[in-house]
Amino acid sequence: MITIDGVTRTFGPVTALSDLRLEIGTGEFLAVIGRSGCGKSTLLRLISGLVKPTGGRILIDGEPVRKPRRDVAMVFQRPALLPWRSVLDNVLLPVEIFRWKRAEHRDRAMHLLETTGLTDFAARLPHELSGGMQQRVSLCRALIQQPKVMLMDEPFSALDALTREELAIELQRIHMEMGTTIVFVTHSIQEAVLLADRTAVLSARPGRLRQMVEMRIPRPRSFGHNAHLDEVAEASAELHQLLLSDHLPAAPRPLTRGSVPPSR
Ligand SMILES: Nc1ncnc2c1ncn2[C@@H]1O[C@H](COP(=O)(O)OP(=O)(O)O)[C@@H](O)[C@H]1O
Ligand SMILES: [Mg+2]
Repeated sequence: MITIDGVTRTFGPVTALSDLRLEIGTGEFLAVIGRSGCGKSTLLRLISGLVKPTGGRILIDGEPVRKPRRDVAMVFQRPALLPWRSVLDNVLLPVEIFRWKRAEHRDRAMHLLETTGLTDFAARLPHELSGGMQQRVSLCRALIQQPKVMLMDEPFSALDALTREELAIELQRIHMEMGTTIVFVTHSIQEAVLLADRTAVLSARPGRLRQMVEMRIPRPRSFGHNAHLDEVAEASAELHQLLLSDHLPAAPRPLTRGSVPPSR
């Protein structure tokens, strides 16, 4: 459903992504992992239509992406809620932006808040909520669009470890229920292994596809009590190895005994 067809993006002298080729299937959960600066956020912005490729093209359901689409939602690292609007009104923000009828979407907004445990907070302001709860609100705000595609840029990385786990489990449930196609950028091998059908490992800048790793681990998965520990360990080790080996310095040349550094 999403085709990244030989996509290159440069910013002045910097090549952020180079000739990236990827096919993402309908309903797939794809994790994207790679070092800082390898172009992960750029990739999401390209898919969302916020940034245009300098080379190659991106198709969603066969159509070239030219501008942001309503059926593609984005979730960022920071919740970016409007501080003066209630939780419910933040969730309903896309409804206003798209000039949909509020009354028709209010029940669904309340339902989304219910499924993320926020019913009692619908009338509160964002600052009254913890970071994890705020990120849940931004997840609901993305889901109210009923997106075909959800682009998530390190959405849990600003949260503490336990909250991160809870939200990851919740996202897995939402993905299993709704079948949304998700492209999920993360630094966390653990999150990739818990959530993804496949993980695209990008090389250091310029970002290219270094390897695609399949997670053949039955769902639902969990961090703690995982019945499939062997598969989890194997996939984690593979991702670790790929990320580490990308940055290993070239093997040092052996110094011969008594050699002196060349003088200038
Ligand atoms: N709007 C921009 N203008 C200039 N350089 C940019 C812009 N966006 C990204 N870059 C550069 O492109 C590279 C990749 O950035 P980014 O996609 O944010 O990486 P990542 O999300 O993997 O850390 C970086 O070197 C970054 O400085
Ligand atoms: Mg980034």
